[in-house]
Amino acid sequence: MATPTLDKTGNAEAGFADSPFITATFRIRRFNPEVSDEVQWQDFQIEIDPKERVLDALHKIKWELDGTLTFRRSCAHGICGSDAMRINGKNRLACKTLIKDINPEKPIMVEAIKGLTVLKDLVVDMDPFFQAYHDVMPFLITKGNEPTRERLQSPRTASGSTTPPSASCAPRARPRARCSGTTASTSARRRSSTRTASSSTRATRPVSSGWRSSTTVTACGVAVRRSTARTPARVASRSPRRSRR
Ligand code: FES
Repeated sequence: MATPTLDKTGNAEAGFADSPFITATFRIRRFNPEVSDEVQWQDFQIEIDPKERVLDALHKIKWELDGTLTFRRSCAHGICGSDAMRINGKNRLACKTLIKDINPEKPIMVEAIKGLTVLKDLVVDMDPFFQAYHDVMPFLITKGNEPTRERLQSPRTASGSTTPPSASCAPRARPRARCSGTTASTSARRRSSTRTASSSTRATRPVSSGWRSSTTVTACGVAVRRSTARTPARVASRSPRRSRR
């Protein structure tokens, strides 16, 4: 692929003076059960601007080199998490990972996230993940006093509320993992505090009992043992700070 150049006049027809393009090698873990049970790593060399994202590189590979390359993506803006994959050994979102940030001098390793069954190439079976989320039910359930219309959150409470589960949380779905979602118990505390006694809504799950629980559930539905339960000692240590406000 010819590298475009820019003349001194900056004539757009001439291209770009300092070409932003580099040659990067993407080493992708391929698996296609319809063809073989074997997994293999395949190299793809492409010319790309290092300021582009890994997702752009995958698109380029798929559209220009190998249409059989299979991966998920939806929003392309770091929201849905569907393009979660391991890039250079770390769980990342391809649409949020810039090529320049992952040392394009060396082959960039791309593979499916671990812990879930690989269906094809970079696509994993998300069913167990979402089943776990539904089983845990990390949300509040009204008992009686059904609302006649949707309960609306204020911007203040929404800022700390639970986010929907996403595939990006799946690779973090293990104890002590950090998850982008607020924990269910935190969310429950905040929601409970805004409703107070005027609402009969209550959590039906022990995790929402709040401060004293030693187990919380992330927005992804993953139970996480926490050592940060608000013990009496911690309550005491927080009291002076509150009184200063
Ligand atoms: Fe939605 Fe990357 S495509 S988070």
